[in-house]
Amino acid sequence: MLETIKETISFIRKQTDLRPETAIILGTGLGSIADEIEADTVIPYEQIPNFPVSTVEGHDGKLIIGRYAGKEVIALKGRFHFYEGYTMQEVTFPVRVLKFFGIKNLFISNAAGGMNPDFEVGDVMFINDHINLMPNPLIGKHVPEFGDRFPDMSEVYNQTLIRRALDAAMKHGLRAHKGCYVGVTGPTLETTKEYEYFRIIGGDTVGMSTTPEAIVAHQMNMTIFAVSVITDLGVPGRIEKISHDIVQQAASKVTPKLVKVISEIIADL
Ligand code: HPA
Repeated sequence: MLETIKETISFIRKQTDLRPETAIILGTGLGSIADEIEADTVIPYEQIPNFPVSTVEGHDGKLIIGRYAGKEVIALKGRFHFYEGYTMQEVTFPVRVLKFFGIKNLFISNAAGGMNPDFEVGDVMFINDHINLMPNPLIGKHVPEFGDRFPDMSEVYNQTLIRRALDAAMKHGLRAHKGCYVGVTGPTLETTKEYEYFRIIGGDTVGMSTTPEAIVAHQMNMTIFAVSVITDLGVPGRIEKISHDIVQQAASKVTPKLVKVISEIIADL
């Protein structure tokens, strides 16, 4: 695995002179940041050696290296989900690459269902803990260069960045919370009782990404900031039938304010 990562990095380094320390995984809700990056280099995933091969038609995965909010950044437009059939090693490979490329700060966004009764569609939640209900991405042969075999998980998400994000959200009139994200495999959405169960065990939002990436990034000692955009509710009495389109539409309404919040935090790093 280390050799493959090194091969990938040497390819990327040849494409750019920039050496960013901040990366953004542009999940649902933050995709439009891609348009605001002053790009130095854009590399489609299929050109990157050892990157997972996309199985989804029309999937425009690309790595964007450039400048944003006064910082050099690398953005991953398009991510790999476990439900698409990738192994956990494939899902998290880009995060390993980022670390060895020199990334210290990792920003992640996702769309999620909200179980907390105080939440509304269109709110955001800055993740301060998670419950991972997917296979653990660290299962398998241990690579000491990645970090601990048994990583401590008592503080995965950076508290200072959460505080700054809450302040910035208030300033921009974005309804924001902090809380616990439950990571599930999908691709089914939750039954009524599953939402109820996730609430009982301590979850505020639920979604199909982020925990594998956060686990791997935390093992490698990266500073992590992650945000859920609440696109639907898993609150008893307020559950409605949802589709992928509804999720996308709800997320796109929040994007402009959320992008402002994220850009301020990055500028302040
Ligand atoms: N559950 C799981 N994943 C999701 C949801 C949800 O309610 N909404 C958006 N992604």
